[in-house]
Amino acid sequence: MTDFLVKRDDLRECRIAESEPPEIGAGQALLRVDTFGLTANNITYAVMGEAMSYWDFFPTEEGWGRVPMWGFAEVERSEVDGVEPGTRVYGYLPPSSHLAVTPVAVDGTGFVDGSPHRAALPSAYHRYLASGSDPFYRADTEAVQMLLRPLFFTSFMIDDELDDDGLTGRGPILISSASSKTAIGVAFLLAQREGVEIVGLTSSRSTEFVEGLGIYGSTVSYEEIDSLQKGPATYVDVTGNGELRAAIHSHFGDDLVRSMAVGVTHWEDFGSGGGELPGPRPTLFFAPDRIVKRGKDWGRAGLEQRAADAWNPFCDWIGEWLETIPGEGFDAVESAYLEVIEGGVDPKTAHVISLAD
Ligand SMILES: NC(=O)c1ccc[n+]([C@@H]2O[C@H](COP(=O)([O-])OP(=O)(O)OC[C@H]3O[C@@H](n4cnc5c(N)ncnc54)[C@H](OP(=O)(O)O)[C@@H]3O)[C@@H](O)[C@H]2O)c1
Repeated sequence: MTDFLVKRDDLRECRIAESEPPEIGAGQALLRVDTFGLTANNITYAVMGEAMSYWDFFPTEEGWGRVPMWGFAEVERSEVDGVEPGTRVYGYLPPSSHLAVTPVAVDGTGFVDGSPHRAALPSAYHRYLASGSDPFYRADTEAVQMLLRPLFFTSFMIDDELDDDGLTGRGPILISSASSKTAIGVAFLLAQREGVEIVGLTSSRSTEFVEGLGIYGSTVSYEEIDSLQKGPATYVDVTGNGELRAAIHSHFGDDLVRSMAVGVTHWEDFGSGGGELPGPRPTLFFAPDRIVKRGKDWGRAGLEQRAADAWNPFCDWIGEWLETIPGEGFDAVESAYLEVIEGGVDPKTAHVISLAD
């Protein structure tokens, strides 16, 4: 068993550890982790590891954590009827060679990991989907799926909430870290709605890239917030940068209709810019909560189908320009992780790591 471990109180410290492979008993299955994507989203899992219990999905030795990844695994051994060895599944995985799971709710679409230590954690992370019956799955787009599927699902839910709450018709939607995959997904979906004004906020190094995407109506760098036209507006915050948030709240004041906290790409500036904020209180947007709500409204299959319908054109579009950076083995996990944590990845690229022998 090999694990990539990160020091919980110093996220830049990491190491590769070897241990005995996990034993599985009755009612369990052993997954062999095959391949996963690595973007700022995974760094956020580490940054929020304590606060939002992300370290609790794949516990390891005291003081260290296994950063959750999204990707594909194969059932290597199984003591569960209906979970057949050789089945390829998509889901939430540790950066490890193996994961022992306790499959429950097994059906043709896959299973849920019913391991007791995961019971109190959000259910959206527990499902392992069998690729054979998955409406999202296309063998020729596996890389795009593992990189973007969880992010696009979030984008889809943000677009849905903005529309559902009537925010698409109340001034521009300002989206920070406009170069991130999550923001790009939101802008791609909003751009299909009639009359929505979408403003991409980004670092000066990425303005050209964001402009070139053709999905934002305008692009403004973080240094130019004062140039934004005053009036009603909605802020979708993907950076988590407190100083930027304060600048936006100060600029728009009570005209700001909503301040939606989505991400923490600027993780080292999380917590900056303290003090009273003018305008509305920022509200946390947590995709798993919205997924639960829409799962009730539309049914799980209805939600999956709507997201899959929205996904296919996005997948085709982004597949035309997104360059994946392939890596193999645990040294590649470490170097990609260290690059992503420093924000050193060109936004038109993304890391995909394979652990297959
Ligand atoms: N709330 C939810 O339910 C939910 C669900 C999914 C994702 N998210 C969040 O959405 C965010 C975006 O994730 P992603 O995977 O889409 O990101 P990504 O594509 O990897 O984003 C890369 C961009 O983020 C910014 N960035 C990344 N690291 C940085 C650093 N160290 N310093 C400064 N800027 C940095 C840069 O954008 P700019 O230069 O444009 O700022 C960079 O181009 C994450 O925080 C993720 O956790 C939230």
